[in-house]
Amino acid sequence: MRKKIVAGNWKMNKTPAEAAALAQLLKPKMENDKAEVVFCVPYVDLIPVAEVIKGTNIRLGAENLHFEDKGAYTGEISAPMLKEIGVECVVIGHSERREYFAETDETVNKKVKKALEYGLTPIMCCGESLAEREDGITIEKIRIQIKKGMKGLTAEQAKQVVIAYEPIWAIGTGKVATTEQAQEVCAAVRGVLGELFGSDAAQEISILYGGSVNAGNAAQLFKMPDIDGGLVGGASLKEEFEAIVKSY
Ligand code: 13P
Repeated sequence: MRKKIVAGNWKMNKTPAEAAALAQLLKPKMENDKAEVVFCVPYVDLIPVAEVIKGTNIRLGAENLHFEDKGAYTGEISAPMLKEIGVECVVIGHSERREYFAETDETVNKKVKKALEYGLTPIMCCGESLAEREDGITIEKIRIQIKKGMKGLTAEQAKQVVIAYEPIWAIGTGKVATTEQAQEVCAAVRGVLGELFGSDAAQEISILYGGSVNAGNAAQLFKMPDIDGGLVGGASLKEEFEAIVKSY
């Protein structure tokens, strides 16, 4: 059975004190024995949030990392730094990082490998723009992102990766993909994973949907056969996140 995961991506929200308060508010509401719950939070919030969620089922995630261990990379944070403070997961290649911070499939690939080297679970993002969907090239785009992002991994390594399919046009817009659209692309992701790593490995990889997930649509999305949970932005900062987590 594939792992079911509901991950919150807090993006660039919450100061350390606010983050600790939000984690405290959500903590008693996150119990779930069917799905893993992850809080992916800004770097400076990691330590205070780690303190709050200690001893619970909530796992700690970062939103990015650098692909080298250390060195002259001003402003960056490495995998061993994250590992040491108890981070277990890391979002890699979010469309916002690709768009605003020039991340490419090549840097995504390096970051995925570095995360795996340190035993961090990469949550590798993919997704098409509205123009790509309208041009009918959604599946091609996703296949390229998966192939390049996971280039050089063994099947054993691939099984440690979590994929998040996030159509860019659905992020923060309130325009959620229909369950059929989301399922179609997640099934295609599993298809390409099968070509690359074999169908047994592909069956074990969790694929999340992200983009305007909320308390009203989560249960329908999570029921789809190739959707194994969600990567939730805005709604993960509110008490509403409880209902999303409990959609499993
Ligand atoms: P929203 O849930 O706010 O649309 O954000 C989705 C997302 O980008 C999660 O990584």
